[in-house]
Amino acid sequence: MSYSEKLIDHYQHPKNVGTLDKSKTNVGTGLVGAPECGDVMRLQIEVDEATGLISDAKFKTFGCGSAIASSSLATEWLKGKTVDQALAIDNMDIVEELNLPPVKIHCSVLAEDAIKAAINDYRVKNGMPELELEGKKH
Ligand code: FES
Repeated sequence: MSYSEKLIDHYQHPKNVGTLDKSKTNVGTGLVGAPECGDVMRLQIEVDEATGLISDAKFKTFGCGSAIASSSLATEWLKGKTVDQALAIDNMDIVEELNLPPVKIHCSVLAEDAIKAAINDYRVKNGMPELELEGKKH
């Protein structure tokens, strides 16, 4: 199996590894696990309340290289987006950008799930109703 250079780069030099203060009301935290492999991803967003834009995003992934690369890429994409734009990030965008092989598609689903879970946490903290998320097939 050959991996793309972008994937290897995100895996070897992941961007935005870390933790945001989840006690802050403008920080949303998503923690999700992949049933097929037990890998776990935590992804956080910080929303600038003045502009409504995501000003920071961090992740910690205990999982495979593709999951690490997917979450690294996702945090890069999240910064500067509105929460609604962030909701539109689809795992297949990640698959395409990193050229993930079919057996690694669920790793990108994990990243999409983590984004959505972080957004939901942010929404609930700010008095908005939780979004009904249709579970994607891993
Ligand atoms: Fe399961 Fe990558 S092998 S997240």
